[in-house]
Parts: sequence; C-alpha cells; structure tokens
Amino acid sequence: MAQVGSEVRRSGWQGLTPAPAMSEAQFARWVELVRHRTGMLLSPERKSFLVTSLTARMRELGIADYDAYYELVAHGPRGAVEWVLLVDRLTVHETRFFRHRPSFDLVRTRVLPQSPVPEALQPYRIQVWSIGCATGEEAYSLAIAIDEHLSRLGGRYYFGITATDISLSALATARRGIYPGKRLDRIAPDQRARYFRRVAPDTWEVVPALRKRVCFAQLNVLELARAPLAPMDLIFCQNVLIYFDRAQRQAILDQVVRRLAPGGVLVLGPGEVVGWRHPELERVHHPDTLAWRRVARRGGGAA
Ligand SMILES: C[S@@+](CC[C@H](N)C(=O)[O-])C[C@H]1O[C@@H](n2cnc3c(N)ncnc32)[C@H](O)[C@@H]1O
Repeated sequence: MAQVGSEVRRSGWQGLTPAPAMSEAQFARWVELVRHRTGMLLSPERKSFLVTSLTARMRELGIADYDAYYELVAHGPRGAVEWVLLVDRLTVHETRFFRHRPSFDLVRTRVLPQSPVPEALQPYRIQVWSIGCATGEEAYSLAIAIDEHLSRLGGRYYFGITATDISLSALATARRGIYPGKRLDRIAPDQRARYFRRVAPDTWEVVPALRKRVCFAQLNVLELARAPLAPMDLIFCQNVLIYFDRAQRQAILDQVVRRLAPGGVLVLGPGEVVGWRHPELERVHHPDTLAWRRVARRGGGAA
C-alpha cells in the first residue's frame, strides 16, 4: 500500500498508510468469529486477505485497531448491522453464467424429460435450488437451460428457482439481474436475444419473464435446518462447500439431502467432496460431473 503523509486524528492512522500488524492472537480471534458465524475457514495463508478486508472497513469507520473493531462487530444491534457489511467483504462471489458446462448438460440430459410429457401429466413442474448463488448468474443459467429445453419439447410446464446466499450485496445484484456485456461471454447470441434486453450501451438485463421465475433469499448454509424450503427436484451447490471443513460439509450435505424430493438430483462441483456417500442417494453418471439422485424415502443421515 502506498504511504502518504497526513494523519487522521480520529483513527490515529490514515487510510493509505500500511495496515496495522495483526498479532496471532488477534488473527485466531477473528478466525473463530468468522468460522462460528459463517462456517468459513480462514487458513493462515488467508491472513493477508482478512487484514485487507478488515482494514478497508476500519478505515471507513475511522477505527484504528482490530480489537476495537472486533468489539464493535461481535456485540449488540450495531454489531449485527456491521457484520452484514463485513460478511460481504469476506465472502468470495466469483461466478459466471454457465460456469461448469458439463453440469448444465447433465441437467438437460439426466434431469429434464427427453420427450414431450403426456398431456395428462402437464403442466410438467420442476423446483430448483441454487445454493450460494452469489450475484445470480448460476440461477439465471439454470433458468435459461430449463426454459430452452422445455420450450423445445413443447407442452405446458412450470419451473421455479430458489436462489440463496449469505451475502446481501450479492443478492441485491442478483435481484437486479443487470450485467455488463463482458459477463455474458458464455451466453450464446440466440440466448441473449431471447433472455436479455439491452438497457444501456453494453449493459444487459435479464428479461422479466425469466427473472420472475427466480426468487432470491438470504440463507446461511449453516442454518439450513431452520430453512422453510419445499422439496426440490434439482439442487445446485457449486463452489460453496470448498469454504467449509469436512465435518461441516457433511452436516450441510445432510441438510441438503433432506430438501431433495424423491427422484431429485443434487449437483456439486466436480471434486468438491471425496468419498461422501448417503444411503438415500445413488450416483448419476455424466462425464466430468458430480451428482446424485435421491432414491429412497427420507429418514437416513449422512454417511
Ligand atoms: C464462489 S461463490 C459460488 C457462486 C456459484 N455457486 C458458482 O459456482 O459460480 C460462493 C458463494 O457462497 C456464498 N457463501 C459463503 N459462505 C456462505 C454461507 N455460510 N451460507 C451461504 N452462502 C455462503 C458466498 O457469499 C458466495 O456468493
């Protein structure tokens, strides 16, 4: 960080001076707070990320040391508000449309019907959940893939997508559904013409007909047991579990499986869990993907 002269009297250190050193004890205290509230594990390698995130916010508030900021964040109603802001800075919202293409191919070929649904079974319905949806690209990609496929098959259909994340700022972006052109690099021209409209030069908005199929809500994956969610036919959970330790991953997955309707499919990112099994799930095989289908009635726990 560049060093420029003058001091801010209130804080004792100026915005552009180097961040104060964080002791190991202070680091351990912050790691525990973040782990306890979000489940995220901040490894020693991520100390500089924590320091940068905290000091950026402390500068805005004119707070000079980590302990004083900790006391502000950890307690009381003001702390609860502050925590929401801090969580946005500590979480990684990296995402893109159709991020992991094989997983979307799996949805088209192994989850959705392959031939027109008989009239008596129409409208065909599918409920989808995108966990850790960040700024919405994953949820809208699912909506596009499903709508394209079902409209091609013909017949009446209905789909709804619930998309959840811990970060309120990411969810606000997701709800707006407005993206700069460069973020649409994986959207084919015909998809762009059908599912987006230009709202400014090189700025695109998801069309209302698609947006209204997606409902965004704040949900901490550590609190799934309390979440009022209907059984889901398809659950996407990609690039989220990587932030949790093995025991937490298992606990989260156990809760996720409980939300899976019989016959429903859970899709993780490839390699996100190793050696995990669940008595009610069977693997769905599709190249370069990691997915399971719920076969049994509910009742079992995670293996
Ligand atoms: C790297 S993004 C993944 C986005 C998308 N699923 C994808 O694969 O492109 C991870 C998301 O997980 C969210 N997240 C992190 N901890 C969480 C928690 N405890 N509960 C819910 N979401 C969380 C972050 O806010 C972030 O938006």
